[in-house]
Amino acid sequence: MKIAIPKETKIKENRVSVTPDTIKDLIKKGFSCTIEKGAGENSYFKDDVYTAAGATVAGSRKELFSNADIILAVNPPSADDIAAMKKEAILISFMYAATHPDLVKACVGAGITAFSVDAIPRISRAQKMDALSSQANLAGYKSVILAADNLGKIFPMLMTAAGTIKPAKVVIMGAGVAGLQAIATAKRLGAIVEVSDIRPETKEQVMSLGGKFIELKGDDTVKMEGGYVTKVSDEFLKKQQELVGKHVADADIVITTALIPGRKAPVLITEDMIKSMRNGSVIVDMAVEQGGNVVGSKMNENVVSPNGVKIIGESNLPALLPLNASDLYAKNISTFLYHLATNEGFKWEMEEEITKGSLIVHKGVAVHPSVKQS
Ligand code: NAI
Repeated sequence: MKIAIPKETKIKENRVSVTPDTIKDLIKKGFSCTIEKGAGENSYFKDDVYTAAGATVAGSRKELFSNADIILAVNPPSADDIAAMKKEAILISFMYAATHPDLVKACVGAGITAFSVDAIPRISRAQKMDALSSQANLAGYKSVILAADNLGKIFPMLMTAAGTIKPAKVVIMGAGVAGLQAIATAKRLGAIVEVSDIRPETKEQVMSLGGKFIELKGDDTVKMEGGYVTKVSDEFLKKQQELVGKHVADADIVITTALIPGRKAPVLITEDMIKSMRNGSVIVDMAVEQGGNVVGSKMNENVVSPNGVKIIGESNLPALLPLNASDLYAKNISTFLYHLATNEGFKWEMEEEITKGSLIVHKGVAVHPSVKQS
C-alpha cells in the first residue's frame, strides 16, 4: 500500500502528518511512503531526513495524490487535491465533517473513502490514536506561554530589596484536556490559578494540580452524556457569569477552553466582564474557532478592548509547537492506520466502534450520522 504525506497548505500550519521516525515504522510494516517536497520543513524535518528513513519524494503534488492508496494529512486537502485521488484511495486527516459539508461533498464526488481523526471516539482503547487530546494538551501549554509573553508582569511572587511582587492570577474556564494542561503550566510558572468547570468531577483533578476550584452548583438545565456536557441553558450561563465575574475582574490572565461537543462554544466572558478587568490584562480564547467563549474575540487576531484588555484568538496553537505536535500526531495517525489496515489492505470491520465512529465517507457514500443528512 502506497502512503502519501502532503505538505500542509493551511495558513500558519507548521505541522506535518508523519515524521521521519514514523516513516521508518511504516516501512518496517511493509507500507511504502512518498512525501511532497518540503512536507516537513516547517516542523524542522528536511527532505533528506525523510529519504534517509526510506521515503521517496514525489515529482509534484498532483503525482503524490494520484498515485496514493492512503493519504495521511493533518488538515483535509483541497477539493482539487481530492479530485486528483484514485477512486479506491483512503484519506485520513482532521475533517470536522459536521461543520464542513463542502469537504464531505468533495469526497463523495471523488468517490473516495475518508476517515476523520477528530471523530475517533474518546475511549480507553483509542487513547493512542486520540489526536484531539494530544494536540489540545500542547495547545493548553502554549496558551499560557502566549499569555505570559503578552502580559507586562511575571507569574511568581518575588521578594526583592525594592519590594515584593505579588504572584499573577490566572483564571481558567474549562478543565478538560487543554484546561488541565493550562493549569499545570501556569502553576509551574508560579501563578495563583482559579478554575471553573461545570462537570463536578473536575474539582478533584483541578485541586490535584494545585488549582483553586470555583464552586458552581449544576442544575437540571445542564445536560451530561458519557462524561461530556451536552447542553447548558442561558440562565445557567448567566449564573456562572455572575459567580465567575468577581474572579475574572481580579485576574491578570483568563484562558477559556469551554467546549460542548458538536455545538457552538458557550459564551462565558461578556463585554461587561471584559470592562471590569484591569488595563494590560490578557485573555486567550481557545474556543475561538468554535465561535468563541469571549465576546469580541476574533479568529487569528489580537483585539485590544477600549479599557486595554488584550484578547488573543489564536486558532492553531499546536502549530506553534510543530516538533512536538507533529511527533505526537504522527504516532496517533500511524496507530490509527494500523488499527484499520495492514499492508495487505483495509480490514473494513464496519461495526467496530473506532472504525464506525471515524468513517465519514465510504467509497463515495457519506455514512457518518453527523453528515448523512447534509
Ligand atoms: P474537552 O472536551 O476536553 O474540555 C472542555 C471542557 O469545557 C470540559 O471539561 C467541559 O466540562 C467544560 N465546559 C463546558 N461548558 C463549560 C462552561 N459553561 N463553563 C466551564 N467549563 C465548561 O476539550 P479540549 O480538548 O480541552 O478543548 C477545549 C477547547 O480548546 C475546544 O474548544 C477546542 O476546540 C479548543 N482547542 C483550541 C486549540 C487552539 O489552537 N486554539 C487547540 C486545541 C483545542
